[in-house]
Amino acid sequence: MPRKIVVTSALPYANGPIHIGHLVEYLQTDIWVRFQKMCGNQCFYFCADDTHGTPIMISARAAGITPEELIGKVYEEHKADFDGFYVEFDNYYSTHSPENKYFSEFIFSRLKEAGSIVKRDVEQAYCENCKMSLPDRFVRGACPQCKAEDQYGDSCEICSATYRPTELINPYCATCRAQPVVKTSEHYFFKLADYGQQLKELIDTGYTQKSVSNKLDEWFNVGLKDWDISRDGPYFGFKIPGEENKFFYVWLDAPIGYMASARNYCDKNNLDFDKVWNSDEYELYHFIGKDIMYFHALFWPAMLMGADFKTADKLFVHGFLTVDGGKMSKSRGTFIKAGTYMKYLNPEYLRYYYASKLTDNIDDIDLKTDDFINKINSDLVGKFANLASRSGPMLVKKLDARLGQLDEQGGRLINKFTTAKDHIIRDYENLKFSAVVRSIIALADEANRYVEQNQPWVTIKTDLEKTRTTLTAVINAVRILTIYLKPILPAYAQKIEKFLNVEKLKFADVETLLQNHKINEFQRLVERIDQKQVNAMIEESKQSQGPQAPAPEEAEAVVTEPFKPECTIEDFAKIDLRIAKVIKAEAVEGADKLLRLNLDVGGIQKTVFAAIAKAYKPDELAGRIVIFFANLKPRKMRFGLSEGMILASGTGGKDIFMLSADTGAKPGQKVT
Ligand code: MSP
Ligand code: ZN
Repeated sequence: MPRKIVVTSALPYANGPIHIGHLVEYLQTDIWVRFQKMCGNQCFYFCADDTHGTPIMISARAAGITPEELIGKVYEEHKADFDGFYVEFDNYYSTHSPENKYFSEFIFSRLKEAGSIVKRDVEQAYCENCKMSLPDRFVRGACPQCKAEDQYGDSCEICSATYRPTELINPYCATCRAQPVVKTSEHYFFKLADYGQQLKELIDTGYTQKSVSNKLDEWFNVGLKDWDISRDGPYFGFKIPGEENKFFYVWLDAPIGYMASARNYCDKNNLDFDKVWNSDEYELYHFIGKDIMYFHALFWPAMLMGADFKTADKLFVHGFLTVDGGKMSKSRGTFIKAGTYMKYLNPEYLRYYYASKLTDNIDDIDLKTDDFINKINSDLVGKFANLASRSGPMLVKKLDARLGQLDEQGGRLINKFTTAKDHIIRDYENLKFSAVVRSIIALADEANRYVEQNQPWVTIKTDLEKTRTTLTAVINAVRILTIYLKPILPAYAQKIEKFLNVEKLKFADVETLLQNHKINEFQRLVERIDQKQVNAMIEESKQSQGPQAPAPEEAEAVVTEPFKPECTIEDFAKIDLRIAKVIKAEAVEGADKLLRLNLDVGGIQKTVFAAIAKAYKPDELAGRIVIFFANLKPRKMRFGLSEGMILASGTGGKDIFMLSADTGAKPGQKVT
């Protein structure tokens, strides 16, 4: 009986691009799902964008768009990145969906009925300037313990102390730098401790890996605390029923997004959601990174228990990606976005490399750039592709593209390939992908040795049928290797299927042979990596630094345009500002916003056109002191040459201000 399986990966936040760190998870999951499907199991892979919360609201404000517009744009980007890396979801949805709203309210109301929700006052940092409550990460200040400046509101990066944002010394709003006030507000809490016993049982029966349950034991030992599941508006999320200005905290509705994605899929495909999501007929697995264990091993199963849903069969936790031994870093160029990677390198190379590193434990995995180049060039190109490229063209050109039959030696070779199936399947199933890759390489080595021994390039000159027999074995080896590699290298496998002129390969096909069969023209399979491509990718990653922390002025929703590209203090220092005196000001015919100004810049006369006619009358201006941008390249305008610019600021129209009328400054004087 084929198994029925539902699989999820954590939902990526909709406020940033997919990067190669995320891809550890989506590639691990995708390989596992493809493996299950190739075994003939029914397997649904569900995911979605995680769209709610303060950071997304603030990013949208900073970009001058609505949160809905932001998440719509990011959704398309995420989809394109996943497609590019062959991550094949059965449904990729959004937490900002009617299904998710429904289930969030539903689960909340069941938890309330179960008596697991309480209300309590909390003190929280509130920015009167931004008019919002500040999440811990949006309050900064000096660490109450070691006094280090500029630390987050929840923990200190210098001394690792953890504390409440209200304990920071000289706290300020990370968005606008205003000093927050402390406000009291009533919040909803989920009584996690009510589920302590049940959670312990779940974990004792193998819900996660051993190293994870050790970590969970530490948490059990310090005791399970109530969890604050509400946030005050303005907040981008789902309103709590019966409340005017309170919303579900993003982490409440995020895991419910798994259900919503499943529900949406079932509805579209006429499947019974209750059966797929909530019955024993289907196994359920969540894949996550180790940073979000608390949510998936404690909060989420407890919510499901309280609301009377089944919990997952297993939680698969993976470690974090490091690059060349360090955390991904923007300045070192190792914070590599999926989109940047794709410009330089074949996505399947990363699939292969991660597979060669992934195990069932939660150790971090290191992407070593030279090891990466090496592995691709020696294994993928040198071992796998080489086998096909040594046999394919010869068969097609010299032996009319037709396979013969295996002889005894060929049969022995293929037998080794076939018997490897069981442990390869076991290793895939248990997430030991690095062991899978090792087994496959050993088989490829075996096949390459066979080619060396039989020297088809020599026998082709003397004995065509002997050569056909040799190449038949090689092609059968290629075919079985391709089956084993296919969950990892789906596009590569597809090229080989086409070349071998066979249907989509599945694991069961390992048991059969390809004999007396006509194959197709051989197409190039993969290219070697050149160090230069990797260098260029890293260079580009240094330049594109991704989303910046919002700058102070961005806080207000009135900012309707994104900021211009960064400019350095050196750029700014190029601007030569001087005091100038207005000698004469006059209206410009045909341009009702402009005034023509004659300026005295310390004995030198300059003419400029300034768009200040709505704010100042010409005769108010003679004799006024202004700031003059002296080294601006002169610009020919319809009305004459403008030899610089005067500085005035404001939002336009009548609302434009220059220096106060009489400052005592001397024309030509430098402005600092
Ligand atoms: N939105 C939450 C998850 C909600 S699930 C109901 C979140 N999003 S995330 O975008 O930060 O991360 C998504 C997944 O990618 C997480 O499982 C996380 O562990 C994983 N990774 C993010 N960066 C990673 C690395 N550098 N390395 C490996 N995995 C990483 O958390
Ligand atoms: Zn603020």
